[in-house]
Amino acid sequence: MNLDLDGLKQQFAKELSTVSSLVELEAVERHFFSRSSGQLTSVMKDIGKLPPADKKSAGQKLNVLRQEMERALSDKRRAFSNKEMAERLEQESIDVTRQALPPKLHGHLHPLTQLEWQIEDFFRSMGFMVLDGPELESEYYNFEVLNIPATHPARDMQDTFFIKDLPGAVMRTHTSPVQVRALEEYGAPIRAIVPGRCFRNEATDTRHEHTFYHIEGLAVGRGISFSHLKGVLEATAKFLYGEDTEVRLRPKYYPFVEPGVNGEVTCFLCRGDGCKVCKKTGWLEIFGAGLMHPNVLKAGGVDPDEHQGFAFGIGLERLAMLKYGIEDIRHFESGDLRFLEQF
Ligand code: DAH
Repeated sequence: MNLDLDGLKQQFAKELSTVSSLVELEAVERHFFSRSSGQLTSVMKDIGKLPPADKKSAGQKLNVLRQEMERALSDKRRAFSNKEMAERLEQESIDVTRQALPPKLHGHLHPLTQLEWQIEDFFRSMGFMVLDGPELESEYYNFEVLNIPATHPARDMQDTFFIKDLPGAVMRTHTSPVQVRALEEYGAPIRAIVPGRCFRNEATDTRHEHTFYHIEGLAVGRGISFSHLKGVLEATAKFLYGEDTEVRLRPKYYPFVEPGVNGEVTCFLCRGDGCKVCKKTGWLEIFGAGLMHPNVLKAGGVDPDEHQGFAFGIGLERLAMLKYGIEDIRHFESGDLRFLEQF
């Protein structure tokens, strides 16, 4: 029996030369090395049938050939692996020398805080203190001392969050309670504004929120009159909406002032001609104000015959909505970055 080792070798070299992928390489490997049907395997089996004298040298030759074939296979495999690796690296590579992108910082002051701080600075420049008060307030400060008797609609369940386990406590519905707290603490004369969060049991819509911000203001001293109030409101309106802004005051009832007014400013958009924003009136309502009621001064320990005062209240959201053209008050508390990132 003659073993055709040269034929095997040539056939192997031929098949190997046509291989173009790892999968094809494995097919060639199986073709020659498979235990059951491999070409090389069957030649090895043939050695067993040789006469004993020929077995040894044939076995050695075949061994040499097998090692050559194995080496050729593994060289080829390595070449493919390197190529695939290189291709993958090409696609997936990370350039560690590239400069990192600066981290995206979403954080900045909330638009209401920005506006509040501007207004605080403006009032400080006119000698006003900036005061704080508790959000969880007593009915006494929230209503009683502000001349709002128990029967007043503002005390109605629909407007006010009462605290179930804390009789006599409410979430403050405005920052006006700090009028009396401030008088108790500092006495007269005093000039102060009180920005802060307020709460009402509102059915929310584009113009009503359960949580919102007010800026209360007050000035108490000898001979404080309506003209002082008007001067401050006009200065504030000009600061907010431009020098040619005018203020219009019209009578309105608030229990804690007498006389009381609602304050309107020239529409910043149409400058008084009438448009959609001002509902064709040319004016925008942004303040409530008046001369402090003697009962309020008294509740704060101030003698109304000696000192007089004015007070006003501004809704911060309304100012911001008008200033920036925001159409829905609910954006402010939404935490929506698409809204917040515009400021
Ligand atoms: N506290 C009032 C409100 O919640 C706003 C207000 C109106 C405050 C008139 C005042 C004022 O000081 O004089 O609507």
